[in-house]
Amino acid sequence: MKKAEEPKVGEKLYHIRIEKGSIPRFVFLPGDPDRVKKFAESWETSQLVAQEREYLTYKGKYSGVDLACTSTGIGSGAIAIAIEELLRVGADTLIRTGTTGAMNDEVQIGDLIISLGAFRADGATRAYAPLGYPAVANYEVVSALIEAAETVGVGYWTGLTYSTDSFYLGQGRPGYGGFTNGFSSKIVDTLRGLKIINMEMESSTLFTLSSIYGVRAGAIFAAIANRSSGDFTPNAGVDKMIKVSNEAVKILSEWDNLKQAKGKGHFFPSLLK
Ligand code: URA
Repeated sequence: MKKAEEPKVGEKLYHIRIEKGSIPRFVFLPGDPDRVKKFAESWETSQLVAQEREYLTYKGKYSGVDLACTSTGIGSGAIAIAIEELLRVGADTLIRTGTTGAMNDEVQIGDLIISLGAFRADGATRAYAPLGYPAVANYEVVSALIEAAETVGVGYWTGLTYSTDSFYLGQGRPGYGGFTNGFSSKIVDTLRGLKIINMEMESSTLFTLSSIYGVRAGAIFAAIANRSSGDFTPNAGVDKMIKVSNEAVKILSEWDNLKQAKGKGHFFPSLLK
């Protein structure tokens, strides 16, 4: 492989600065590097793996399971780089743990939302597959997140996500100086009519690339904004989301062991009997 086609610094992948084999298969993907530190603090053990640009990675153990957390920065271009490089160094189950804007006022600020699939209004996935290609979450990851929320004892919503690279106009917010256009101001109502439950900026890329590469992905969000009531509270629900995410990886690891013991390629409920 030519150096410019697979950029590295020594043995480390250029952007995430991690080398092959040095992270576990389960990796959380928040956008914000500060949230990586919160994850690390919630584990039994943790260590810094790498820090480069927006990509901060810690790894550690939760309930005896090896796991890691890498921040992706904001938007499809940034998360696509993280996914490309994390898969090259050993990840195979990626869970976005993000914040989001909820569409309806029945979703309260701080509530959790588990995504079932995403509308591809991002830019990066157009380089990978035509728009008819679906952006779906892996059913095992979705099921584990639901099971985990039930185990932790917190409420949650499930539904379809809208992923766009634009936080302002693309999510129906006015631009600088109140700038708007004919379509931005209609976006929130249109999406609500389509029963989209939340808007954010990375999940369509995660789901599309994960399907193409044959790995598992899911996404859970803390609702910090509500586009119906207009409320906004930074970090609302994030601690709860971290608890549920850790528990989901523990559950996925148990299900993976069960699949292996019973010689099955997929998890299904009667495997637990
Ligand atoms: N992230 C988004 O992309 N939108 C919101 O409204 C909140 C978080």
